[in-house]
Order: sequence, then structure tokens, then C-alpha cells
Amino acid sequence: MAIRPVLRMGDARLLQRAELASGFGSEELRALLADMRDTMQALNGAGLAAPQIGVNLRVVIFGVQKNSRYPDAEEVPETVLINPSITALDEIIEDDWEGCLSLPGLRGQVPRFQSIRYQGYDEQGALIDRTANGFHARVVQHECDHLDGILYPMRIRDITKFGYTEELFPGQALQDE
Ligand code: NI
Repeated sequence: MAIRPVLRMGDARLLQRAELASGFGSEELRALLADMRDTMQALNGAGLAAPQIGVNLRVVIFGVQKNSRYPDAEEVPETVLINPSITALDEIIEDDWEGCLSLPGLRGQVPRFQSIRYQGYDEQGALIDRTANGFHARVVQHECDHLDGILYPMRIRDITKFGYTEELFPGQALQDE
């Protein structure tokens, strides 16, 4: 287990389409997920995608627990999601603020589907099939975008809603994805 360096925007590896993962239950997958968890926890992230640590596989993790440091954060179940797919449940799009571990210190207002169904597999290959709304749905969409080489600034509609967290939200501790 190790904390791995997180690639930052500008690194071409973040723009690749990641490949389907295999080897459910394998030592390689277990080690990758351990590194991803260590890295996400060390950086207080809400989510992390394997390409962010230079592993070009369709593997993401996310989760937010109630924490006094982030009083406004909604809870999101701790999840390993492999080879995910997302379906919007309606046409409603919401703009809200996001940060990303690959753009430290920045935040932008990003349009996302409000309600989604997402499917994929856990590390043992068991099917995950959930519906999600709001922040939970936003985190899943953000992480899965990383698997298609999409970083959140590429989706911002109003570029004036993009800037440094310290200027936009002075004194607030906010989590990145
Ligand atoms: Ni991100």
C-alpha cells in the first residue's frame, strides 16, 4: 500500500480513454485499490479514478462520511466501482461546484445530471446497480468522466464560475474529487 502521486491537468495521461479492467479478486486489483484508497485518504478526497494515479483502467472509488470538517457535505457510500456505466434518469441538469485532485486549489461550476442510475462491479466482481441524486450523482459522474479523459473544466459552461478555492470560498474546507 502506498500513497501515489496524483497526475495534474496538463498530463496527457489524464486525457486517455481508460481500458476495461479484469482480474476481479486478483492481487493486482487489490493492490491498486489499496493504493487508491491510501491516496484518496491522504488528500482528503471524495473520490479518485485510477487514471489519476497513472493506471489506465476503468476503476474508480468514492465515498463521503459525515465529518465535522465538511459540515455541508452529503454522505456518499464508500464504493469501489469497476467498468461503470451511467444512465440519466431524466433531463434535469444542475450546475454546482466541483473540485478535483488533479486541479488542486481550484473549483468550477459544472453541469451534471441530477438523477442517474449507475452500474458496475465491486472488487470481487459483484454487480452494483444503484440510483443516485444530487451530490452522490455528481461525484459518480465526475469520477466516471476521468475514465473517458474528461476533466471538469472541459464541461464548464460559464468560465467566470471557475477559480481558486481560497478566493471563491474563503476559509472553507472543501473536498476534491
Ligand atoms: Ni477529479
